[in-house]
Amino acid sequence: MKLLVTGGTGYIGTHTCVELLDQGHQVVVIDNLSNSKLGALERVATITNKKLGDGQNLIDDLIFHRTDIRDRIALQEIFQSHNIDAVIHFAGLKAVGESVHKPLEYYANNVTGTIILLEEMARANLSTIIFSSTATVYGDPETVPILESFPTGGITNPYARSKLIIEEILKDLHKADPSWKICLLRYFNPVGAHPSGLIGEDPSGIPNNLMPYISQVALGKLEKLKIFGNDYATRDGTGVRDYIHVVDLVKGHLAALDYLHTKKSILSIFNLGTGRGSSVYEMVRAFEQASGKPIPYEVVERRVGDVAEYWASTEYAERVLGWKAQYNLQTMCEDTWRWQQKNIENKKML
Ligand code: NAD
Ligand code: WQD
Repeated sequence: MKLLVTGGTGYIGTHTCVELLDQGHQVVVIDNLSNSKLGALERVATITNKKLGDGQNLIDDLIFHRTDIRDRIALQEIFQSHNIDAVIHFAGLKAVGESVHKPLEYYANNVTGTIILLEEMARANLSTIIFSSTATVYGDPETVPILESFPTGGITNPYARSKLIIEEILKDLHKADPSWKICLLRYFNPVGAHPSGLIGEDPSGIPNNLMPYISQVALGKLEKLKIFGNDYATRDGTGVRDYIHVVDLVKGHLAALDYLHTKKSILSIFNLGTGRGSSVYEMVRAFEQASGKPIPYEVVERRVGDVAEYWASTEYAERVLGWKAQYNLQTMCEDTWRWQQKNIENKKML
C-alpha cells in the first residue's frame, strides 16, 4: 500500500514509517517541521535502508514534503501525484499546558487542519484514515480499566478537547457518508524508542511528560524530578498511567490498517495501551535499573488537571485487531535510555 503519513517526522510518526517500510509499504510523509527535524526521517531511511526522496521520483519508497496540513493546494498536488491508499494522521500540536495559553492555535492547527485534510481526501476520493486520539478524552474515569464504551468528556484543556472535537467530526462524517473507513486510536502513554537508538522522543525545552523528564535527570541535564503529588488514592500515592512502548503502539496502527482494508464501511474506536498501570515511583525505579543512574526527586504539589490513575482495557483491540502490546516497562526504559545516550552523541557530531 501507499500511505500518506501526516506528522511523519515526529516521535510516533518516525517509528510508524520504520514499521510501514519494513512491512513493504510505500510512505509519503508531510510535516511542517514545527515540532520535529528532517534529520529524524533521514534516520528512518538509515534504519530501513531506503533512500529519502523529495517527491521528484514518485517510485521512491520514502518521500518527504515539507507541508502544513492546512495547505490545500499542496495537499491537492500530493493526492494528484501519488496514488495514496490510506492516511495515517499524526500531525497536530500536543502540549497540554501550552494549549491552555494558546487555545486558538491548537484548534486552528488540530481541528481546522484535520477538516482541510478530510476535505481534500474526499476530493481525491480517498476515504480511509487512522486518527491519533488520546486516552485523555475519557477525562477522569469512574473505574479502571477503561473500556472504549466509557463516556468521553470531563476534559480540562484545549489540546484534549481538540482531539475529542475531531473524533466527533469523524463520527458525523461517517454517518453522513458511510463509504468512509475510519479508526480512532486512543493512545495511553507512549514512551520508549526504536531499539536502534537512532530515533526517539526529543522534546524541545524542559519536558512536560514523565519519561522524557526522568531520562534528562538520568543524563544530568536536569537536577531532579518533581513528582506531582504522592497523596493520590493509588497503591503508593503517586499517579498511575498505562505506559506503552512506541513500537507496540505503532504495530497497533498496522493492525488497524489491515482491519480497515477488510471493510467496506467502518468507524471503530480502539484503546492502544498495555492494560497495566505503573506509578511514578515505579517508573523512577525502573529507569534507575535500566540506566544504572540515580534519579533524585522531590515531591511537590499535584499538577492541575491530573487524574489519579487510569489504564486501558485491551480486550477489544486484542479480539478485533488481534493486536496486543509485547514490551514491558524494562524494555521501555532501556530503549529510552539507549536513545537518550546516542542522541547526545549524535548532536555532538552535528
Ligand atoms: P510530535 O509533535 O512528535 O509529532 C507531530 C508532528 O506533527 C510534528 O512532527 C509536527 O511538526 C507535525 N505538525 C504539527 N502540526 C502540523 C501541521 N499543521 N501540518 C503539518 N505537520 C504538523 O508528536 P507525537 O508524540 O509523535 O504525536 C503524534 C500524534 O499523536 C499527535 O496528534 C498527538 O496529539 C497524538 N498523541 C500523542 C501522544 C503522546 O504522548 N506522544 C499521546 C496521545 C496522542
Ligand atoms: C504521567 C504521570 C504526572 C511529569 C499526557 C497528556 C496526554 C498524552 C500523554 C498527548 C502523571 C506525573 C509527570 C513530571 C510527574 N499526550 N509526572 N512529574 O499527564 O498522563 O498524559 O501525556 O496526547 O494527553 O495529558 O502524562 O507523562 O505528563 O504524566 O510527577 O515532571 O507522571 O503527574 O501522574 P499524562 P505525563
